[in-house]
Amino acid sequence: MTPKPVLWITRKLSANTESRAARDYDVIFNPEDTPGSPEKIIEMSQRVDAILPCHSEVFSASIVARLDDRLKIIANHSVGVDHCDLPALKARGITVTNTPDVLSDATAEIAMLLLLGAARRAAESDKLVREGRWSSWSPSFMVGHQVTGKHLGIVGMGKVGQVMARRGRGFDMEIHYHNRRRLDPELEQGAVYHKSIDSLLEVSQFLSLHCPATPESTGMMNADAFARMPEGAILVNTARGALVDENALLAALESGRLAAAGLDCFQTEPGGNPDFSKHENIFMLPHIGSATFETRDAMGFRALDNLDAFFAGRTPGDKLV
Ligand code: DGY
Repeated sequence: MTPKPVLWITRKLSANTESRAARDYDVIFNPEDTPGSPEKIIEMSQRVDAILPCHSEVFSASIVARLDDRLKIIANHSVGVDHCDLPALKARGITVTNTPDVLSDATAEIAMLLLLGAARRAAESDKLVREGRWSSWSPSFMVGHQVTGKHLGIVGMGKVGQVMARRGRGFDMEIHYHNRRRLDPELEQGAVYHKSIDSLLEVSQFLSLHCPATPESTGMMNADAFARMPEGAILVNTARGALVDENALLAALESGRLAAAGLDCFQTEPGGNPDFSKHENIFMLPHIGSATFETRDAMGFRALDNLDAFFAGRTPGDKLV
């Protein structure tokens, strides 16, 4: 009997994913769930044919250069692949896949939660009640920004952006977007296309980021970008921390140019930015956009589908390089 391919699953995945993987592969699991360090990744590349990592494992050019020839495929358990140096992996002949589509609903749910929470002062209000400091009520108490009918700007109208647009329409929001290319009318659903990001920023009372972190998009939300947004706008980020210049965001919140922000992603993860904690108008979550039971199974299965195709000699559906 042909031996099963050896697979390293770098983090603890859903029980359904792990049992399917154990059925089809010779798996090295990580029950302690510790992130894979560069040294661990390099060491494991000598022992396995495939790695199923998360965005917590970094495959930079210098790490990729030290990977063993045995490693043939990296089947990511994530849609974002900014932790992988794709040109370096391609040059080494290592196949890389991701898990698009299956986390769009879950991520848009969290983007909407952040949008609503930032607008309606959820973090601040919850803290007040929780700490027993809710001692009065008046019409001027905890007044926030209404969402209904406002303009929602979406940067990156891929699958997550499109679901976010649908959720926004549920709140009668007017949808505007910027994308590398304009969508077909049936996908656009009446959303207003902005060829330039600057023009999108100028109309976005709420702005939600749904684009990948690339060298071009890194730091795109900087002081200039915040200055272009309407006074009192609200920023939502469920994409990647690298998109936002965090010092510029703090300055925009302190000056009142932005009214609030809802963030699931930070430049430093885990941990976030300690300076954000001083600001009650920042509603924060610890990178849980795709963290639902359903989506974790779907992500795990999608990564395994990609591995199955690869080891059956087919091109994986989500092959990036
Ligand atoms: C993704 O899939 O990119 C999410 O951020 C979780 O890694």
